[in-house]
Amino acid sequence: MSRRVTVTIDGKKIQALAGEKLLWVALENGIFIPNLCALKGQERPPASCRLCFVQVKGKEEPVTACTLPVVDGMEVKTRSPQVDRLVKSAFELLLSHHRLQCSRCPKNKNCQLQIIARERGLKLKLNRLKPLSREEEIDDSAECYALDRSRCVLCGRCVWVDRHAAKTGTIGFAQRGIARRVATFGDEGLGGVASPEFQRCVEVCPVGALYFKKKEERGDPGNEK
Ligand code: SF4
Ligand code: FES
Repeated sequence: MSRRVTVTIDGKKIQALAGEKLLWVALENGIFIPNLCALKGQERPPASCRLCFVQVKGKEEPVTACTLPVVDGMEVKTRSPQVDRLVKSAFELLLSHHRLQCSRCPKNKNCQLQIIARERGLKLKLNRLKPLSREEEIDDSAECYALDRSRCVLCGRCVWVDRHAAKTGTIGFAQRGIARRVATFGDEGLGGVASPEFQRCVEVCPVGALYFKKKEERGDPGNEK
């Protein structure tokens, strides 16, 4: 059985299981840390969105909370000038991948980008970067859900859930660098997906790229506050 430890986050003393990742300890205790790519239960979180930086006492550089196992006596601050700078840059980079048309998005008001912007006082618009123009057709071929790649921030949550939980073998990442995209097997489109288990992949999309067509089927993707 795992040992219980005490950590201090933003001055609040919290009991947690040794080895648990700091991101989940904070979120489950009402302390917000921006996050997009992590899912609870991942043995090796991808740490690709670079949003969950925190400052740990004794470490010079900020570290990602989704990869940081808690140890007894750990003292953490979720904000510092260095953390704020890193989060701001990572956020803008993600926004440059994401077509901003919130009023027409199925995830409007429940989007993780909107939540992070609100919590950290960040603007939902590009300042230094130009938008990555990706005029891709929406994959509307399935009855219940659709994929709009122009909103995809490549967080990898859907791909991870498909590989490790839903196991439908439907989606994966294709290509590299700027051309990287979520692809369906044989590029056949989501209409060819027979497994109802695939819904689990749709549920975890934090930004409305992979979404349920009907409003009543749209749930909470988890990880949010
Ligand atoms: S479709 Fe959604 S969950 Fe999948 S990689 Fe893109 S943003 Fe992430
Ligand atoms: S949640 Fe930690 S890097 Fe994305």
